[in-house]
Amino acid sequence: MTISVIQRPSHMVRSGHVQLSIILSETDKATLQAQIFDQIRSMILNGQLRGDDPLPTTRELSVQLGVSRNTAVLAYERLIAEGYIRTKPYVGTFVSPDLPDTAFLSTQGARKSQPPTPDEAGEEPQALGVSLRTHQLAKPDRRRLAADFWVGRPDTRTFPLKAWSQHIKARLKSAGPRLTSYSDPAGLLELRRAIAKHLGPARGVIADPEQIIIVGGCQDGFNLAGRLLVKPGSPAVVESPCYQGAAFVLESMGAKLHPVPVDRDGLDVARLPRVDGALAYVTPSHQYPIGVTMSLQRRIELLAWATQHEAYIIEDDYDSDFRFVGSPLTALKGLDRNERVIYLGTFSKCMGPGLRLGYVVAPRRLVESFRRMKMLMNNGQSWLEQAAMADFMASGEFGRHLRRIRQLYRERRDALLNALIKHFGPCEIYGDQAGMHLVWKLPDGLPDAAEVEARGLAAGVGVISLATGSALRFNNDDGGDRMLMLGFVALTEKEIEDGVARLADALRS
Ligand SMILES: Cc1ncc(COP(=O)(O)O)c(C=O)c1O
Repeated sequence: MTISVIQRPSHMVRSGHVQLSIILSETDKATLQAQIFDQIRSMILNGQLRGDDPLPTTRELSVQLGVSRNTAVLAYERLIAEGYIRTKPYVGTFVSPDLPDTAFLSTQGARKSQPPTPDEAGEEPQALGVSLRTHQLAKPDRRRLAADFWVGRPDTRTFPLKAWSQHIKARLKSAGPRLTSYSDPAGLLELRRAIAKHLGPARGVIADPEQIIIVGGCQDGFNLAGRLLVKPGSPAVVESPCYQGAAFVLESMGAKLHPVPVDRDGLDVARLPRVDGALAYVTPSHQYPIGVTMSLQRRIELLAWATQHEAYIIEDDYDSDFRFVGSPLTALKGLDRNERVIYLGTFSKCMGPGLRLGYVVAPRRLVESFRRMKMLMNNGQSWLEQAAMADFMASGEFGRHLRRIRQLYRERRDALLNALIKHFGPCEIYGDQAGMHLVWKLPDGLPDAAEVEARGLAAGVGVISLATGSALRFNNDDGGDRMLMLGFVALTEKEIEDGVARLADALRS
């Protein structure tokens, strides 16, 4: 014999900002009033409803649950009699502030004695054996610093707020159904066209708009590429040292990391593993963290390796909008005749990471896979920001904005180089020709980078050792202990000069 259970639909009963989800079953042996009593009582005991939370009136409850008023009244009377709720004349019915049930009190007690969360215990969190190591984002307490040379963060003051709000407002006005509909998970075509147009002259990348997938920054791009191309145990080549944000994504997917050392010419391609089907992650324009640029010779060799071993290369071109010396080197993607390069660009550095907007230029044979994976992951990016960005680019404002901040950042880089030389004498510097940070190899007379960072912090100056700067090292003898990262774009020239002077004082004392 089958017993059918007829349930009335769940009703979300609203009262003020409290919502009650009550499910009544007509086949339940308990009466309707008992079911209402039990469910409200449970909500109170498990903490969903707390002391003094308002409840619906009996009239509202009866209408919303489709029961007689009398049923609601009887349920409330019992809750009042047992001390769970109380009425305030002319005001309403509320959860009692003095709850009687010892079971409730003991769950509260039990909660307190539970073991600390992994965060509280300072352990690495785990999810079914998946690695969840993460890179560092700047902590809010750094705002107290007199000068913070944090890396990879643009100057808030340079954000083109006026133009941006005009574009947002105009798009909101004409949005029609676009705010309330899904659109192509690959992104807004207007924006993809504008990016394609920008990439040719700026990076030497000739791409069809169809090859471009709009993503939530490079981080989203790492995940997309990884989900398509990494299986547990599959080989992933990374630079040594490299950017944690990318390496940890690959690691979380079970990739086997193959670190390849970096020297003054970028990735040492002679040491690439002779394995097939790898995914290689590189930062050729401004190596993260060291800042060196991969030579043309090495770029060509890396592409040849990828073709020979059927590898795909993720080219992370995160801060290539800023090149201060000579003309920009063509991106690896611009040299890629065999479609082995997955190019990642981001608006995080030239606009701001809060936008969460970036793009992938996918090899043609992977375009549809990227589009579908983007759909599986999150159905695409926000329409409004994409539309505003498309307008900002199409109007020519983006180009002007880039030229303006490039000049500003060049002046700040010069100020940093001058201040370092003034206070410390000739310095061995890497990566000052491009990007938003440079690396200073600390001279023998100074302590190592971790100690310099600690002394700087104590003096109110943030300077960054590789570990703090989200660099992943694979070899303690790589010289990284003496490398100090200095982001220069978010500080004024005066702040830079004062910050370096303070650091020099702190290191002398
Ligand atoms: C090397 C590198 N790649 C990519 C990113 C940026 O990522 P997103 O575009 O996700 O903001 C950063 C951010 O600091 C970075 O340092």
